[in-house]
Amino acid sequence: PVGADFVVVSNRLPVDRSTDDGGWRRSPGGLVAALEPMIQSTGGAWVGWPGQPDIEVDPFSFDGMELVPVSLSTDDVELFYEGFSNDTIWPLYHDVISPPAYHREWWEAYVRVNERFAKAAASVAAPDATVWVHDYQLQLVPRMLRELRPDVVIGYFHHIPFPAYGIYAQLPWRTQVIEGLLGADVIGFQRVADAGNFARAVRRRLGYETKAGSIRVPTPDGGVRTAVAKAYPISIDAAVYDELARRPEVQGRAREIRASLGDPAVVLFGVDRLDYTKGIGHRLKAYGELLAEHRLDVEDVTLVQVASPSRERVAAYMQLRDEIELTVGRINGDHDTVGHTAIRYLHHAYPREEMVALYLAADVMLVTALRDGMNLVAKEYVASRVDGRGVLVLSEFTGAADELTQAVRVNPHDIDGLKDAIMTAIEMPEHEQRRRMRALRRRVRDHDVAAWSRAFLRDLATVRGARDADA
Ligand code: G6P
Repeated sequence: PVGADFVVVSNRLPVDRSTDDGGWRRSPGGLVAALEPMIQSTGGAWVGWPGQPDIEVDPFSFDGMELVPVSLSTDDVELFYEGFSNDTIWPLYHDVISPPAYHREWWEAYVRVNERFAKAAASVAAPDATVWVHDYQLQLVPRMLRELRPDVVIGYFHHIPFPAYGIYAQLPWRTQVIEGLLGADVIGFQRVADAGNFARAVRRRLGYETKAGSIRVPTPDGGVRTAVAKAYPISIDAAVYDELARRPEVQGRAREIRASLGDPAVVLFGVDRLDYTKGIGHRLKAYGELLAEHRLDVEDVTLVQVASPSRERVAAYMQLRDEIELTVGRINGDHDTVGHTAIRYLHHAYPREEMVALYLAADVMLVTALRDGMNLVAKEYVASRVDGRGVLVLSEFTGAADELTQAVRVNPHDIDGLKDAIMTAIEMPEHEQRRRMRALRRRVRDHDVAAWSRAFLRDLATVRGARDADA
């Protein structure tokens, strides 16, 4: 490639290889939709892993974007992706819901693979390009890239939580990781609290001065530069959900879903990657108790739980799957009748249209994560409710809870509180549902993913402007 003025770097490329014909298909997810127009209009590039071990692919064009694959060997996948990224950083940054494992061999692989991503980005970026690095798998890339290419402007966005210092301090490589992140000019977080936690870690580990989201970072030549660390809450392409939800065939499919469940009075809905951060077990426990105590009756209510397969080779995920499936089996065994089921459990991922039909079919959406950077499911539900009805039950431990203040707020650890919240949602009068949903929909419409990327890129452009003025 000749050199791109705008480069996105993320662990995964925005495409998957189809199992049928080996061709590339766009993978689901809002990030592509948000960044694609910018990439297309600037002749930009996207650097990432094609999603399977040991495939070597040359850069190729896809829908007006230059895709630059970074190959991972079977060992890299095991040590860098499943190991350090998803069995060290992921549990640590989600407040040690599952114990993180610390292995020096995993860290070495993380350094090595981050180096490879940084080199790929450095080789594809045009002089003075803007490079936007994404998420916890690539925390060392900003600094590595700055060393290779001091001319480029670097942004980093952290999609998951950044933990309080007392937790972060466990990480044996805690200093190297924040030094890695500080290579960026703008470091974006989901919540104000995450940005604050990061600034505190920087003060504690490195002693740099931080003030109102600005960090003074010493440069190798003895000078100082300013890095910005602040919150940019991510969102969805709300208009796409709105449009899909208005389609007659999608609304027809929503009615069909309710009919196939036996037209219960109340449909509860949960949809998550099958991940221990999502609080699926807490949700099932609360629901099971409501049935056992006859506050709910299986003749009137069904919980549809979509649990999409995720990170299936990591032990904590295998164990979670066993626990959830055991619990679902017990609850159904105890409460099902021949004609009615308590939980319709689906271990699949569904296309977006089917998701919107499910959102429309659900009276109550249960988002009970124990910790979540944002939780886009909450926003997708709201954006899909073009009928103005439906109730969102939302954990206070999600980024979304900062914005979606009209949801029924819960602490998922408090099972009695969770049961009461579910009942409040089920019993909420329609005018109250409409009042809350109106406010929620306005929020999601006005703060969509395009507004998110605009806000981030505007701050990066300001850095560039200041740099040009200095030069
Ligand atoms: C979270 C992370 C993403 C990640 C996604 C799916 O949303 O923030 O970086 O891509 O989960 O996980 P996976 O391990 O399959 O990429």
